[in-house]
Amino acid sequence: MMSDLEPMKQQAAERALAYVRSGMALGLGTGSTARYVVLGLGERLRDGRLHSIVGVATSEATATLAAQAGVPIATLEQQPKLDLAIDGADEIDPELNLIKGLGGALLREKIVESAAERLIIVADETKPVAQLGTRSPLPVEIIRMALPVVLLRLKALGCTPTLRHTAHGQPFLTDEHNYILDCAFQGIADAHALDTAIHAIPGVVEHGLFIGMASLAIIAGSQGISTLVRPGEPVTN
Ligand code: A5P
Repeated sequence: MMSDLEPMKQQAAERALAYVRSGMALGLGTGSTARYVVLGLGERLRDGRLHSIVGVATSEATATLAAQAGVPIATLEQQPKLDLAIDGADEIDPELNLIKGLGGALLREKIVESAAERLIIVADETKPVAQLGTRSPLPVEIIRMALPVVLLRLKALGCTPTLRHTAHGQPFLTDEHNYILDCAFQGIADAHALDTAIHAIPGVVEHGLFIGMASLAIIAGSQGISTLVRPGEPVTN
């Protein structure tokens, strides 16, 4: 779906592409902002600004898009170490901790991006928040048969979990054939504690809190582009 945020998403993606060098192995994100990164990579490979790039996709959708755009794709088996990953996010806090997964790809995103030396987030100006969990629910990917048990355990952590459905009213299935529970919190005061608590629930596969993973966020807004750097991270291009 096109929106007036579209030019901002593209601007953020274009800026992030300046960090890509020929010969790099890249983690390719999922979603409407990361889409512009894949398209931009294809364009640069075609016109010769970049060569010898290989991408590892974070979803089936991104793998398909990369193939259409002419970006060579590898598996993690072929390419277990990545130089850089570029992806979108649903919320970005001042320390560059993130909520991801509204696009449903959080599990493969977390795996692929954990294999990258560096993760750059590309976003429009609606994504930065003072505190995580204030704008977006936290997506939690779970094993299907665990649903009743995980629901109760998540509620006990103080949120309202809702099973994600498709536009056709069927439960949404991830690329790994799991369910997603979108957990509405009224702000997440301690993301580290919540990370540990959710991972302790049997049946949870992964959640959308990305803590300490991103080193740089490129935010495009109506007033131009700004960057957020994780505290302690050197800024290099
Ligand atoms: C996909 O699972 C998500 O983590 C996306 O990265 C996130 O939803 C951002 O998507 P947009 O760029 O479409 O907002």
